[in-house]
Formats: sequence, structure tokens, C-alpha cells
Amino acid sequence: MSAEHPRLDALREVAALTRHRADLLNTPITMLFEGDPRRFERMSRRLDDLLMDFSKQAITAETLRLLLELAEARGVTARRDAMFAGEAINVTEGRAVLHTALRNRGDAAVMVDGEDVMPGVRAVLAQMRRFTDAVRTGAWRGHTGQRITDVVNLGIGGSDLGPAMVTEALWPDHQPDLRVHYVSNIDGADLFRTLRSLDPAHTLFVVASKTFTTIETLTNARTARAWLLAGLGDTVHADDASSAPTAVSRHFVAVSTNTEAVQAFGIDPANMFPFWDWVGGRYSVWSAIGLSVALAVGMDVFEQFLAGAYAMDVHFKTAPIEDNLPILLGMIGIWQVNFCDQGTLAVLPYDQGLARFAAWLQQLDMESNGKSVGLDGAPVGWQTGPVVFGEPGTNGQHAFYQLLHQGTPRVPCDFIAAVHPRHPWPEHHTLLLANCFAQTQALLVGRTEAGARASVAGRPDAESLWPHKVFGGERPTTTLVSDRLDAFGLGRLMALYEHKVFVQGVIWGINSFDQWGVELGKALATALVPAVADAEAAAKLAATSDLDGSTEGLLAWIAGRREAASES
Ligand code: F6P
Repeated sequence: MSAEHPRLDALREVAALTRHRADLLNTPITMLFEGDPRRFERMSRRLDDLLMDFSKQAITAETLRLLLELAEARGVTARRDAMFAGEAINVTEGRAVLHTALRNRGDAAVMVDGEDVMPGVRAVLAQMRRFTDAVRTGAWRGHTGQRITDVVNLGIGGSDLGPAMVTEALWPDHQPDLRVHYVSNIDGADLFRTLRSLDPAHTLFVVASKTFTTIETLTNARTARAWLLAGLGDTVHADDASSAPTAVSRHFVAVSTNTEAVQAFGIDPANMFPFWDWVGGRYSVWSAIGLSVALAVGMDVFEQFLAGAYAMDVHFKTAPIEDNLPILLGMIGIWQVNFCDQGTLAVLPYDQGLARFAAWLQQLDMESNGKSVGLDGAPVGWQTGPVVFGEPGTNGQHAFYQLLHQGTPRVPCDFIAAVHPRHPWPEHHTLLLANCFAQTQALLVGRTEAGARASVAGRPDAESLWPHKVFGGERPTTTLVSDRLDAFGLGRLMALYEHKVFVQGVIWGINSFDQWGVELGKALATALVPAVADAEAAAKLAATSDLDGSTEGLLAWIAGRREAASES
């Protein structure tokens, strides 16, 4: 890297943190609490009703100071400002990164290449409102005059995970007579299972694809179109917009940046909701890719969701770095990954609505920061994005938490909870929150040998059993609590994680906004299609290419099993 932007491992701030980590190694977190009765206040921050408690992390005021010095040395705030200003910070794709414009509730212009994008953003929001109102009120009718009762979003990656997660999270806001389904997988089972209980006359498909070239989504969309036309008795003539049947225009809408491909598919351009190349796929739920969410919950709630994210954007842009939630969350992650050798992150929402939160975060974090080449094109010499996983509590407690408590890896955890439930049974919520806090407590304090011995005292097998009951504790956690995980609270939480991922990408010196790593598998799959379909093609491919032995063997195995089945 240039002198202006030196390598991370050459920075004196990194050296200072490395020394500091060595000094802290023998200081348990529990001792930090003993030494400071005000640790909770000192090691937590808030934005309105959102509290971020990181007092159970293995950090001191000195750690924070050093981490924030590193953030400054790495130019985090300057990069943040460049992102908000519409600079083309996605350098490998030559694009601006402006999902924040989609939820900009202020009056300020947002410029890209000399043009204010806000009028276009507002126009699409208005288009979404007109359409969702029409579907939700029943003014929009299907080809046979029936009301729409089921919406199927066909999309994958960012065109599925964000909308699917948010729709599920906002279950209390759903309109009961309008069900929204998500189909992403090219495995026909996904679409088949969804469609077999639906009636084409009442079904609306939202084809959500930024590029409108993604094989999974287009394959599902073609099959869905054939299903619809078979059910409604209309005809279609190839992929030709001019011959698109009216059934398609009443039952298919598209969200995309690719107008020609949408038209070629036979979707009426009037039923297309555009967005822009400065919206990354995994950041697109705030755009018209959120159409399925808006159909489920209505535009007023959808705009609350945008407002929550905007509140976090304003905070990220304006709060001093020592109080800045995304910067702090990001830098705590840097501490874990680069100084404590903790390359995994568990995200544990104590909220059943957030059942798909970890799946959404996996794409956000791992597609953004799963990189090993720096902005300078050279391999990075340090760890980058963590492996992210999670499940809602309390379910996860009865599955993988065993490893979190007593396993050999030390896995930092983010716990997420709300003060108020969105259901009518407070006693459930009391138990839920008690479990959430008890887990962070157990991960921190563990159980000593004395405690373990006491827990089995009097048993005949006590001497052999107590070692199994020791918990090391000292396992770092952050807890995020907001009043409610409603549309506003959810939007704010998601934007917090988006900006955290951004901050970390800046520290690591990588481009968090491209995803070249998904290309190779796609290209190889296309090349393998004929060989999977046909044994002769498989044999030919093996003979004429340098196919690896395993793939050759797998293709031959499939062909052999198919032949055996056809003979029996
Ligand atoms: O997996 C790669 C990816 O490009 C994601 O980044 C994106 O969210 C997904 O595919 C879907 O792409 P599209 O919306 O263009 O169909």
C-alpha cells in the first residue's frame, strides 16, 4: 500500500494494540467488573432507546482508546463521509455505495455523478405505495377478476434474504388476508412446495433480481409463469414482450435495474419497479426489492422501517467516534478477530421474529468482508471477516450453546432483545429475557471447580463428574436491547450491522461491496449442466477437459445410478 495508506500490520496503532492484548491476557473480564463498579455505564452506549452493552467484552478503557485510534489512523470517518457523499468507493465495480439514499428522510440532495438521486428514490416509493395499496385493498385484480391473496417473491441472495427476514420479523403488521411467500432455491422443491397450495387466480409473483440474469430466479420465474398460464389458460409465445399474455401482466411484477431483460421476460414495463446500480444486492431491501415486505405490512410500516435505518445513518454520520455505535461495534469485532484470534461470531436474537436474522447477516457480513485481497490488489496479511452464524434464543440454547459455553473455540456472541414483546403474553417475555441475560451471565462468570464440586456434592460419582461441570466463563458478549423490535427498531438494528461491516472493511483495507467470489461456482455450474443431464456428455467432458477426478467420479456415479434405476 502507499505511504498515504500503509498496510494494517505496519501501523503503530496495531503494534500498540498487540502489546496491550498481551498485557490484558491475565486480566479476566470478571476482575474488570470487580475493579470498576461503574463498568456497565462506562462500557455501554445508547442511541435513544437502543442500548449497546459491551461491558462483558475483554476490553478496558485503554483498549477502546487504542481501537478508536486505529479507526482514526485507518480513516474510517473519511471513508464513511465518502460513502454518504456518493463517491465510487466500490472501486472494483466503479460504483457509488448509496443504500443510505434509499432511506434518506431528510431534504438534502444526494448526488451521484452530478445528479440528485432523491427525486428518483421518492418516485419509486410513490410507485410502491400506489401498487401495494391497490393489491392490499383488492383494487388490483388478477386476470380472472379475483383478488390477490398470495404473493410469491422470486429472488435469491440480497433479493430474498433481506425481504424474507424483514417480512417474518414484522409478522404483527401483516394484513391477514394477504400471505407473502419466498422462493429462492433453484431446487424445484422450493417452488413446488410453495405453489402446490396456491391458486394461480389469486397469486401475484414479484420477480426480484437486480441483474435479472440470476439463473435461480429466472428458472423459478419461468416455471412460475408456465404454472400460472397452465392454471389460467392463457398463452405465451416465447420470451417476447410483444406477445406477453394479459395473465402475466396481472400476475407478474418485477424489481430490477435491467429494464430490457424484464421486458424480454414478458413483464409489462408499467409493472416494473426500478432501482440503481449504486444499491448493492445485500443492501437492497431498502429499495423496491422491499416490495414484498411493503405488500405484507403496507407502505406506512415500510416507511417506519426506512426511518429506523435513517436514524442510525444520522447517528453514524454525526456521533463522535467514542459514542458511535457502528464504529464501536465494528472495532470490538476487530479486537476479537485480529487481536484475540476469535474468527467466529454468533448472533443470537431473543426474538422469534428474527428467526432469519443470522441468515441475512451472513450474506451482509460474509459476502461483504469475506475477502483476502486488499484494495491495492495484494493479499492481505491479516484475518478479515468472521464466520457468522446464529439462531434465535432460546432455541439455540438447546442446540449449539453447549459449544459456546464449554467448547474449545472462544466464540464472541451478540445478544439481541427487546424490552417489550409484540404479543400479548408478558410471562413468556419475562422468561425469554431472563434466559437471554442468564446466558450472557453464564458465558461471563462460568462455574469454578468449587462451584462444580458443590453442584455434584453427595453423589456417588461426584469425583468423576465435577470436571465436566466446570465452565471456563470469560466468553465475550455484547448485548443490544431496544424498546421494541418493530419496523423502526428493526431498521435501526439492520443499519447498525450494515455500518459495522463497513467500518471493519475499512480497517481491513478491502472492498466490502463486491462479491467476485461467487462468480467461479456459477460459471462452473453452467459448464457442468450438459454433463449432469446426460451420461455421454459427462464422458466427453471427462475425456476432453482437465476435470478433476472427484467431479468426474460424481458425474459418473449419477449417470450409473440413473441407468440402474431405468433398468430396474
Ligand atoms: O450471490 C451473488 C449475488 O450477486 C448477490 O450479491 C445478490 O444479492 C444475489 O446474487 C442475487 O442477485 P440478483 O438480485 O441480481 O438476482
